[in-house]
Amino acid sequence: MWWEVPNHLKIKHGELYIAGKSAAKLGREAGTPVYVYNGKRVVENYRRFYSTLKKYTERELRVCYAMKANSNPDILKLLKKEGAWVDVVSPEEAERALSVGFDSEKVLFTGTSVSNSDLKRISDMGIMVNIDSVSELKRLGRIGKSGMRVSIRMDPGINGSGHSWKVTTAGRSSHGVPIKFSIPREEVLDVARMCESDSFRLAGLHIHVGSNWRTNEEISEFINAVDLVLDTARQVSRALGHELEFIDLGGGPGVRYMESQKEFPLDEYARQICKRIDGSHLSLNAIAFEPGRYIVADSGIMLMEVVDVKKRYGDLIVGVNSGFNHMARAAMYDSYHEIINCAKAGKKADTHVVIAGNLCETGDVFTKEPRLMPKPEEGDILAIHNAGAYGYTMASRYNLRDLPKEIVL
Ligand SMILES: Cc1ncc(COP(=O)(O)O)c(C=O)c1O
Repeated sequence: MWWEVPNHLKIKHGELYIAGKSAAKLGREAGTPVYVYNGKRVVENYRRFYSTLKKYTERELRVCYAMKANSNPDILKLLKKEGAWVDVVSPEEAERALSVGFDSEKVLFTGTSVSNSDLKRISDMGIMVNIDSVSELKRLGRIGKSGMRVSIRMDPGINGSGHSWKVTTAGRSSHGVPIKFSIPREEVLDVARMCESDSFRLAGLHIHVGSNWRTNEEISEFINAVDLVLDTARQVSRALGHELEFIDLGGGPGVRYMESQKEFPLDEYARQICKRIDGSHLSLNAIAFEPGRYIVADSGIMLMEVVDVKKRYGDLIVGVNSGFNHMARAAMYDSYHEIINCAKAGKKADTHVVIAGNLCETGDVFTKEPRLMPKPEEGDILAIHNAGAYGYTMASRYNLRDLPKEIVL
């Protein structure tokens, strides 16, 4: 199948295997619902990302893994061992990063609607703050330590692309909803001056524009934002009289959720960005990136059990022991995920089915349209593909259902 990956995810003896183990057996032994991640795949994705960028730059590369995608401590430990940095969005994520051994110097906090108590906790941990508003900067001036290094999250004014309007993070609005993140480009120079008059040291400029891009066109759009941040960095350096230490280009690189989609053109992304940075004549010591999805999405599957099968107006409704409380992406973003019947993975897809969750909500379905697959029966274990990113981290206890389990192989 198109989603098979050597030494990771494959069909063997007609069954789905992950990291050499039968997925159905794992599900039965651990009990469903359960997220299963292959640690080797996470490391492989990280190394590919790092080495592809390294091909095109001599500068220090900071791959700040966006742990909002997956904050499992064992996965964080694997990435730390690889030399990753980490991008956190809350004091709780910051505490998790420090607890698994990340040095506070390698953690960057990019919050939004940040409270005084968040600021106090983050600055007490010695973590750099990426400023999202003037209000935040002023309050940090009272709460933070003098001489602290900070960066500014800039809105390049370009919407950027993504898998849903809900992940458009720059520009004025998305689908009519005003965007809450970052400081508009025209205001960055003034905010940079404010940072230094507040006795902070402005170390970098940051952008994060959308999530899950996959095409060269989407990369070209992103490169326009890179040009704008580099241009602004030049103006800021001139105004402050010193060079910035880094530019942080956020996350966004996508993964393949459907057969019709292409793999993310990582080489093109790396080549274009590094060319622009070299051409900018800025002496930036480091380039930072914050990939989340790219590193972890395809490393994980979510296993759930078929508990009920019924016909309704001609539709075959296959009920499972999970719901959008465990994997929100289909309900929240209308996202498509392959769903694999583990023990029947090699069988012919011959039946259209609706995979429905166990929450009392009409929108609690994993398949918006009926899906063609080998006919599921009660007791079958189904796997949601590409569940490693924004899966468990978005889980809730809605309907007082327990959280799913997690296993890292
Ligand atoms: C500031 C920031 N950086 C990085 C990311 C990670 O994005 P992705 O998973 O698309 O790489 C996000 C996602 O929301 C983000 O808000």
